[in-house]
Amino acid sequence: MSVRKKTAILISGNGSNMAALVAAAQAPDYPAEIALVICNVPGAGGIARAQSLGVPVKVISHKEFDSRENFDAAVDAALRDAQIELICEAGFMRIHSAWFAERWEGQILNIHPSLLPAFPGIRVHEQVLAAGENESGCTVHFLTPELDSGPIVLQAKVPVLPGDTKETLAARVQIEEHKIYPEALKLVASGNVSLKDGKAIFV
Ligand code: GAR
Repeated sequence: MSVRKKTAILISGNGSNMAALVAAAQAPDYPAEIALVICNVPGAGGIARAQSLGVPVKVISHKEFDSRENFDAAVDAALRDAQIELICEAGFMRIHSAWFAERWEGQILNIHPSLLPAFPGIRVHEQVLAAGENESGCTVHFLTPELDSGPIVLQAKVPVLPGDTKETLAARVQIEEHKIYPEALKLVASGNVSLKDGKAIFV
């Protein structure tokens, strides 16, 4: 019997982190299998990318729902239908209702393109450049109802270089995202990191 944790990836865009997770999960000893991709944006690049990688994809457009709660209920139903145990949000640009975050507490990760708690929210690279920072990075954390503030599993740093634009900085950060997200999922799926009393516990 497989002990690999059934994992879903939630995306809204290109899906480069999704592809990195799928690639990592191809290793026979990886403790998670990517069983489902859910995308809330019809036509997003990540949909074709997931299909070409052979992963089942479900498109659930948030625009078809009259409330955040009803959209989250449809996502939750799809996750349960597929018997999902872990969720990775990878460029999923919707804020969840509190009940959804609470229902999946300890089983849901998010990646954010800054060194949290610095620069939560959107337009992160612009903010980092405007603040004159000389380093930035990315963070994988447990998702909690408060935006971008759950307990941290892994971070990686990159330098901010003279002449950087938001595009050059984003590209440098993404190289690190593609390394730490598979590593973070491995830690959580293998039980080496878990969420307890609001803290990430490493064994
Ligand atoms: C990633 O850089 C991720 O950190 C960011 O969106 C990008 C998605 O890229 N997420 C957020 O900003 C969440 N607040 P991808 O679709 O190529 O993985």
